[in-house]
Amino acid sequence: MNSFIYDIPVKVYFGENQLGHLGEELSKYGSRVLLTYGGGSIKKTGLYDAVTSEIKKAGLALFELSGIEPNPRIDSVREGAQICKKEKIDVLLAVGGGSTLDATKYMAAGACVDFDPWEFFSEWAPIEKALPVLTVLTLSATGSEMDCGGVISNPETKDKIGRMEPVLLPKVSFLNPVDTYTVSPYQTACGAADMLNHIMEVYFNMEQDLYMLDCFMEGMMKTIIKYAPVAMKEPKNYEARANLMWTSSWAINGFINGGKQQEWSCHPMEHELSAIYDITHGLGLAILAPRWLEYCLDETTVSKYYQFGTNVFGIDASLNPMEVAKKSIEMLSDFLFGTLGLKSTFTEVGICREDFPVMAAKACGHGVLQGFKALNQGDIEKIFEMCL
Ligand code: NZQ
Ligand code: ZN
Repeated sequence: MNSFIYDIPVKVYFGENQLGHLGEELSKYGSRVLLTYGGGSIKKTGLYDAVTSEIKKAGLALFELSGIEPNPRIDSVREGAQICKKEKIDVLLAVGGGSTLDATKYMAAGACVDFDPWEFFSEWAPIEKALPVLTVLTLSATGSEMDCGGVISNPETKDKIGRMEPVLLPKVSFLNPVDTYTVSPYQTACGAADMLNHIMEVYFNMEQDLYMLDCFMEGMMKTIIKYAPVAMKEPKNYEARANLMWTSSWAINGFINGGKQQEWSCHPMEHELSAIYDITHGLGLAILAPRWLEYCLDETTVSKYYQFGTNVFGIDASLNPMEVAKKSIEMLSDFLFGTLGLKSTFTEVGICREDFPVMAAKACGHGVLQGFKALNQGDIEKIFEMCL
């Protein structure tokens, strides 16, 4: 087992009636606040009024940037960084889903450099400093509220690139399950598929595991499988929304990694889909994951599927391991495409074979993805074929 460092210094206010702490937390970082949000859902839900009222109550100067799109664009990042410089912003407050949070993290970093923020991705320019970022999460999915990552799209170059840097970690996140009551059944399903994948990318791993972390991951996967359908049917079910929200954060905040070094597989593939086709991240992952698992299944990997099938889906442990493995993939597919009702093929979402070579080459960085099973461009193209 690898040695590891555990360091997740994000202060979390979880639950109802916590927003009263927003002013005091923002004030710790300065008096000039840039509030960022997406296409307006926070105005419809009343969260915008609640947040701005707290900011005003605390006597802070408020600046705003709205219109951050799903699969957030580098142009939003550029605009936010400019506002930070021009208005001498002290602290950023991102209110929304993963797209708003991700873009805001890079605005905070862009505010501290003199070059175009796209160079963080195109040139891997160093990210040594960033303005402080606080978040109010409205969609349980990406874990951006408690991780130091962000994924940004550049429609001109058809790239969508993610990066993780410790300085981008939010200082404080407000997680109120009630703020997710208005998330549509479709986005709830995509969020569930995303979280599930964050866990599976770590769980399906050839490195030696900590039993304790495996149990923790199995518990989180069972939580998603239990509560996502409830939240879709009863959007205002607090228990379901709360379980999903806290799972969103813990699926990707680094805790479950336990020092594992292996690369992820489905995420790099999916980012190429959403880079070109602008599809919802969780939907792309849902289509890919069962095919990836099918492609990686053999005698060397079967024991992990057996563990997954018996512990997460309750498949009869007395069956032959290969039988359990195949059944576990079937049950995962049934959950994603049956229970959650997500589309199950590339064809249904308009993804065409002609783009496979480019997407596959970029997904593996023109080399090999050293994940659960090593995948080169040819392997990834075969997985894409299975998704048609
Ligand atoms: O823009 P608004 O009007 O707010 O509407 C959004 C958007 O249309 C809506 N929404 C959010 N909260 C809502 C709501 N609608 C009603 N009620 C609410 N409470 O939902 C739509 C999708 O929002 P978005 O932020 O795009 O979704 P998500 O949170 O799934 O974020 C996806 C982005 O995060 C990246 C993805 O690649 C994608 O770009 N990821 C970020 C990660 C990270 N930071 O570590 C890891 C992930 O694997 C992922 O790659
Ligand atoms: Zn994801």
